[in-house]
Amino acid sequence: MNMSETEKNVKSPRHIAIIMDGNGRWAEQHGHLRVKGHEVGAETVDRMVSVCAEIGVEVLTLYAFSSENWQRPALEVAALMRLLRHYLRRESKRLKKENIRLRAIGRLERLDPAVRKDLEKACAQTASGTGMILNLAISYGGRDELCDATAAICREVQSGKYSCDEIDDKLMTAHLDTAGLPDPDIMIRTGGEYRISNFLLWQLAYAELYFSDTLWPDFSKEELLRIINDFQQRERRFGRVVERGRP
Ligand code: FPP
Repeated sequence: MNMSETEKNVKSPRHIAIIMDGNGRWAEQHGHLRVKGHEVGAETVDRMVSVCAEIGVEVLTLYAFSSENWQRPALEVAALMRLLRHYLRRESKRLKKENIRLRAIGRLERLDPAVRKDLEKACAQTASGTGMILNLAISYGGRDELCDATAAICREVQSGKYSCDEIDDKLMTAHLDTAGLPDPDIMIRTGGEYRISNFLLWQLAYAELYFSDTLWPDFSKEELLRIINDFQQRERRFGRVVERGRP
């Protein structure tokens, strides 16, 4: 089957998803406590949000806190939550000014009410943004998300809204936290590990994967642009065969 002309020409990433790894190691290498690594990592967040918005990315999803991160020492969890609140309070005005809409995915009900309130407030303040969507994955796990979507569909089947035969790719997609967003074109993981760590398990099905040894606090605009440039050279076949002209 031939790809349509439109698919062949779509080379700019619409959605970039990032696992921001390496904050702890960055801090150790610089003789600081782990928390300092997260603080400097938050500055990298600022830079990447601006770059992505500038170059016309539609959605930037950042893995800010995984469902597994709840198992970190209480002090580190508290520091991450404090940083998140600072970020939301400090940046919501700038996001609004830059026409960026904030959104969050994950089991947000697990968050402390104060964090949740700040998050809801920042989402509401930026709700009219028509530019990039900054999608923060917080208390997020891909398996949790798939379980929640499955449970929601089961309830709808039980209520008679659908039959089991109607469960398909589209229905699942519509029940995920990311409903309404395009799937990521690019998934970047910094910090030198080659795993996807329960991140967007459904949505990454056809994403181009990039693993960088750079620790997140050191991740730069130049490296992001190099990755995007490489992505633009890659041929995405979505499981199909691209027919080439025969000699
Ligand atoms: C992984 O590094 C990173 C995290 C668990 C948290 C990411 C958080 C931030 C970048 C800052 C706050 C976020 C926002 C949106 C303001 P790690 O601690 O696992 O690093 P390591 O593998 O070197 O130990």
